[in-house]
Amino acid sequence: MLIFKEVATLQTWLDAARGKGRIIGFAPTMGALHDGHLELIRMAKRDGCLAVASIFVNPTQFNDPKDLEKYPRLPEKDTALLISADCDALFMPPVAEVYPPGVDLTLDLDFGHLDKVMEGEFRPGHFKGMATVVHRLLDIVKPHRLYMGQKDFQQLSIVRDMIRQLRLPVQLVMCPTVREPDGLAMSSRNMRLTPALRAVAPVIYQTMQWAQAALRQQSASEVQHEAMRRLAAAGLKPEYFDVVDGVSLLPVRQWSDSDFIVACVAAFAGDVRLIDNLVLKGQ
Ligand code: PAJ
Repeated sequence: MLIFKEVATLQTWLDAARGKGRIIGFAPTMGALHDGHLELIRMAKRDGCLAVASIFVNPTQFNDPKDLEKYPRLPEKDTALLISADCDALFMPPVAEVYPPGVDLTLDLDFGHLDKVMEGEFRPGHFKGMATVVHRLLDIVKPHRLYMGQKDFQQLSIVRDMIRQLRLPVQLVMCPTVREPDGLAMSSRNMRLTPALRAVAPVIYQTMQWAQAALRQQSASEVQHEAMRRLAAAGLKPEYFDVVDGVSLLPVRQWSDSDFIVACVAAFAGDVRLIDNLVLKGQ
């Protein structure tokens, strides 16, 4: 696996690969890699792509400076994991390569309510920073295919909308959420959970599964209320448990409202903020 820190050297290598007819599959990450990230690389390889990963802890998408500071950074371990997944190239740039001083690369698109609800409400500015960096990384790598995880469902919806609005020549590929055996969605943040909170955290998945059955009999607001109660009773501090249409991300009132319904959750386990989602109906 080749490791690049500079845009120019990465682009020279990518141009040569493109010239040889290689299809480039790109998976952007913030590092502290786990099996969920590696699955993106494995998918790209299965699709016959030249797999390119990036590790960049993007300062513009952290609304809480403490969260940015605490974000785990494990470059040696990450490099070994990417090699084990047969990744072809890793782009690990310093901040100045992604955001050259004096150049304003902020992406200011109108995502309607897609970036206002759920994560958008609780993490102001997060999606603007996320869209800005994904746009910048796409501009650098110019991949044919972009691999992203369903784990961050709202992020995926916003990136899809960005690609549509800007007519970017890239195909977005969604990778299903990879979970621990007890149902907890893999996340770089999980390593910060205390053993006691790690033991409690699977209640998020269990509650979403309960909601899937319950929504057939109860209104979405009843399900939401009971789900929040279950998460709190287990010792988490839930921020939201929203039952939304999978395309518009608007709340649904009941099972029959939409063919594609998703439950989206954010909850604190101690000071670790966890998010997850489950498709309750459709897709
Ligand atoms: P990060 O949280 O590192 O996630 C990188 C990619 O891995 C995202 O597409 C995310 O959805 C996917 N992913 C994370 N956990 C997963 C899991 N358990 N199963 C499947 N896929 C999973 O998301 C970001 O970084 C950043 O916002 C980024 C897009 C890199 C922009 O900075």
